[in-house]
Amino acid sequence: MTLYSQLALPLVFRLEPERAHSIAMGGLMLAGKVPLGLRLLSACLNYHDARLETEVLGMSFRNPVGLAAGYDKDATAVPELAAMGFGHIEVGTVSPLPQAGNPFPRLFRLPEDQAVINRMGFPNGGSDAMLARLRRARERGVRLPVGVSIGKGRDTPIESAVGDYCRLLRELHPYADYFAVNVSSPNTPGLCGLQAKVALLQLLGELAQVREAACPGTPLLVKIAPDLSFREVDDVLDVIISCGIDGIIATNTTVGRDGLNGRRSLWSMSGGLSGAPLRGTATEVIRHIYRQTQGCLPIVGVGGVNSAETALEKIQAGASLLQVFTGLIYQGPGLVGLINRGLARKLDEFGVSNLAQLVGTSRGRIKRRRVHLPGRIRAPDPVG
Ligand SMILES: Cc1cc2nc3c(=O)[nH]c(=O)nc-3n(C[C@H](O)[C@H](O)[C@H](O)COP(=O)(O)O)c2cc1C
Repeated sequence: MTLYSQLALPLVFRLEPERAHSIAMGGLMLAGKVPLGLRLLSACLNYHDARLETEVLGMSFRNPVGLAAGYDKDATAVPELAAMGFGHIEVGTVSPLPQAGNPFPRLFRLPEDQAVINRMGFPNGGSDAMLARLRRARERGVRLPVGVSIGKGRDTPIESAVGDYCRLLRELHPYADYFAVNVSSPNTPGLCGLQAKVALLQLLGELAQVREAACPGTPLLVKIAPDLSFREVDDVLDVIISCGIDGIIATNTTVGRDGLNGRRSLWSMSGGLSGAPLRGTATEVIRHIYRQTQGCLPIVGVGGVNSAETALEKIQAGASLLQVFTGLIYQGPGLVGLINRGLARKLDEFGVSNLAQLVGTSRGRIKRRRVHLPGRIRAPDPVG
């Protein structure tokens, strides 16, 4: 039992979920405005251990625990979130123009299952506002990797979606350390269809060209749904690799309802399920990707990470980096430090000197290589 779960959680859960989130973000931003606020946040929440530092995607991460897309949709609190101890922050998903998202209510807690269902539909302030905020964050000294999750506008016909993604890449690259191509949110009609082979090939092919012209060094990652079959994941991997995409984020929320035990009335709610019930499925997707690519494609593992144990599960399945969202709702802001402290202890237990040595160690028997690996993706050095 943490102080957060004993004192704060009962109060927070009396508030409507989106209101609670706005208040939390408001509190964070306030902390960033008062003198020494960021230092205080960092002193209370940040945990540092040099053995958790890792090099992935050509970038240095001070620890593997990142903030998942959707938490800071508009990049309003990047310096404050950085002070909380994250190793990276993914902002967005942003669309080219501002949009309101789906009607309320659109976020539901399932406390018995440590889960939430959301059907937000990308409410966000658009790319101009995002650009200005990212610039300000950089000016305020944010140095950790900040990724931008990009998606199509709600009113953009699916046939014109590629144009939205390319535009976002062109506009936001000066302040994006990487881009996450979101083709997996279940709450924007037609979006998940972009994971199908032909559509994905067109999208990623064009994005790769725009990247080459505008920002050749900026990594592109694709975020996939946990609801794809392994065969569909293999198709995605083929496309990713043939287009020279740098990494994969697995996974987004699920439209499935497996693993729920609590309030049945909420199960039929449309939207994406996240949190503890998603954990196992997301881990299996990661394990599959790691096997199919022989560990050569960087994987960001997300879905139900809420402790050092669940973090380690994803790392051992093949994730080099992690992200959290729903865990923060239930465990509070101390979660990042809790995971990192626990991971440092795991390094001692396993007798290894850094986390990279644990990546993919529970993979079991590796299947023979299925996908062709181009020169751009380098096989990692063997680990002890
Ligand atoms: C309220 C809410 C909003 C989200 N919005 C986005 C989004 O805009 N873009 C995106 O790629 N993922 C979004 N996600 C998915 C998360 O980034 C993450 O992939 C998913 O929640 C699984 O992680 P978790 O179990 O730690 O929450 C959202 C999730 C939640 C709960």
